[in-house]
Amino acid sequence: MGRGQPLTIRVPGDKSITQRALILGGLADGESRIRCILRGADPLATGRALRALGVEIVGIGGPGDEEVRIRGRGLRDWQEPEEALDLCNSGTGARLLAGALAAQPLTAVLKGDASLSGRPMRRVAEPLTRMGAAVDYLERDGHLPMRVTGGALSPLRHESAAASAQVKSAVLLAGVGAGVVVEVREPRRSRDHSERMLEAMGAGVVEGRVDGSWSVRIPSPPDRLEPLDMEVPGDFSSAAFVVAWAVLAGRRAPLTVRGVGLNGTRTGLLPVLARMGAEVGVTGRGTAGGEHTGDLRVAARAARLKAVEVGGDEIPGMIDEVPILAVLAARAEGVTRITGAAELRVKESDRLAALATNLRRVGVAAEELPDGLEIEGTQRPLSGFVRSFHDHRIAMAFGVLSATPGCDVPVDAPSVTEVSFPGFWELLGQLKDGGAGGGGGRVGASSAGGRGDRGDAGAGGCLVVAIDGSAGSGKSTTAVAVASRLGFRHLDSGAIYRAVTLQLLESGRSGALESVTPEELSDLAIDVRWRAGRMKVWCGGRAVPEEALRTERVTAMVSQVAAVPAVRAHLLELQRSAARGPGLVAEGRDMGTVVFPRADVKVFLDAHPEERARRRLLQRGIRPQASEIKAETARLTRRDRLDASRTIAPLLRAGDAELLDTTDLDPAAQTEAIVRRIRAVRGGRS
Ligand code: S3P
Repeated sequence: MGRGQPLTIRVPGDKSITQRALILGGLADGESRIRCILRGADPLATGRALRALGVEIVGIGGPGDEEVRIRGRGLRDWQEPEEALDLCNSGTGARLLAGALAAQPLTAVLKGDASLSGRPMRRVAEPLTRMGAAVDYLERDGHLPMRVTGGALSPLRHESAAASAQVKSAVLLAGVGAGVVVEVREPRRSRDHSERMLEAMGAGVVEGRVDGSWSVRIPSPPDRLEPLDMEVPGDFSSAAFVVAWAVLAGRRAPLTVRGVGLNGTRTGLLPVLARMGAEVGVTGRGTAGGEHTGDLRVAARAARLKAVEVGGDEIPGMIDEVPILAVLAARAEGVTRITGAAELRVKESDRLAALATNLRRVGVAAEELPDGLEIEGTQRPLSGFVRSFHDHRIAMAFGVLSATPGCDVPVDAPSVTEVSFPGFWELLGQLKDGGAGGGGGRVGASSAGGRGDRGDAGAGGCLVVAIDGSAGSGKSTTAVAVASRLGFRHLDSGAIYRAVTLQLLESGRSGALESVTPEELSDLAIDVRWRAGRMKVWCGGRAVPEEALRTERVTAMVSQVAAVPAVRAHLLELQRSAARGPGLVAEGRDMGTVVFPRADVKVFLDAHPEERARRRLLQRGIRPQASEIKAETARLTRRDRLDASRTIAPLLRAGDAELLDTTDLDPAAQTEAIVRRIRAVRGGRS
């Protein structure tokens, strides 16, 4: 399919609706059935938290189109979790759960990653404590981790300072959960997915303008919530990136994003695009899950974009689209001014600062305002390395820019997009190549997202095989062969440690390796990408050539670098995020013990030291004579002893790993033995 052909794609399910469906499903009386959920890292984290609260959820780790069933426990019967609930990067998950927990007679701790722990929680904790819940901050005032002790609550009318759907939903959930009347007034109307779903579940919601605010009230909370039966529409906020790409890239034929949620509280970008001169129409209107839906159609050829003024009332309806609007503004004629967007400073990153910094880095004149941005558009080629600031929407906005003619804008840590848009980079790559699976192709939504509901194990049913073993046992050759036989990804952790070593060597940093800080490691911007199952390491937004990883300098240093605890901790999530698609063969030290302790299959390869010595000599192109075999055997046994006794990542067979003695097995036989084992496990799982 070339650039001249009309193209139709889909984007993954709506994040906000998926999150609410999971949580509300957990409070319903009976089984909810949800189709087309977003299997991104955020909802998967919420799903894990709900399970820890005793809510049974089936199918969340399944393939993209599998229905998810949530066995609700009713309004006040969640179980006290044994451990802190880790919402990872998900603000919606943390805040909405805080609201729901306030009405449960139990104590739970909510925690998150560094980004989420930096975001304000007082905005939800404050109304919940006024209702009677107890909220304690365990580390930093006003932030996660925080302990919520819930129970019987009092009615509340809350005047929210921000137009925030998360705050509004938290209070509504607390009110419905506790069976008390609540009203939330917000300065401007924020997204109303919770209200729609609560209505569908039998809780009457009264809304309207009162004294200049938007008021939402549940005057008579019901005794029970009906279960949900719904399909999640495509996420408008994800579609916005694809639409923006089509507007900027200048295809010769229209591009359609099908089945997108068009809730009026979310589509504020559309009139702004029209004012900029972009031709984006809506066709095929329908409904799904109580929401308006439709197809977004971007006309052929690039629109000549004009700068716009956006502010005040418009921002809540496009709160998550400001990053992509900033990128569009960078290519528009004139100065775009965005105001009234101070809330962007407390998103997954300070988005105003992140956008201004990145735009300037690539050569665009951009000024930060206290509550917005001023951006002077340009047609000049734009290039420069930009940072994601661990924020999915910042990474995607600049990814879109980079995929347009005349731009080369590599983004660090591209895998942050897993939060809301699994498959984003693959889709963008296909769009750029003019393909995207052809007209009617379902791209993006079909890929399962994020880490799975089995904690460290794979996402979306991804089968994880951990392969470790002693030096010369044949683990690398076998791991590659197993992955390619089954069409799985091959995670080569050794190459990742080599890349870190290379970058540290090249950064010219002084000081002991042990003192390397998480910030320094983060600045190296190490990432991995996949093409046909083969892993490539990326640093600073560029692929690292294989040869650069194999130099003597790197080889001499890599084991020291890999022994630094901060390095291992830093790479943990990156390695775990590789568990996507049908399967992953994860090869390397501590794969079955630390990285994937719950892998589906664990194999530990070993062989007689003399056989291992012979193989290593052959690998180096040396004919294995008796004397050489003897010397190499001595070296290997010394190394085995050292490897086994080191404190950091020792060579250790996981208790539940199957030992495969490869002394008498050639690579094909080793591969066959492991493939057979995997097939047996897969058979048992399906
Ligand atoms: C969301 C509400 C918005 C939005 C976020 C999702 C929700 O946040 O930015 O991505 O699902 O309720 P605020 O409520 O903090 O504005």
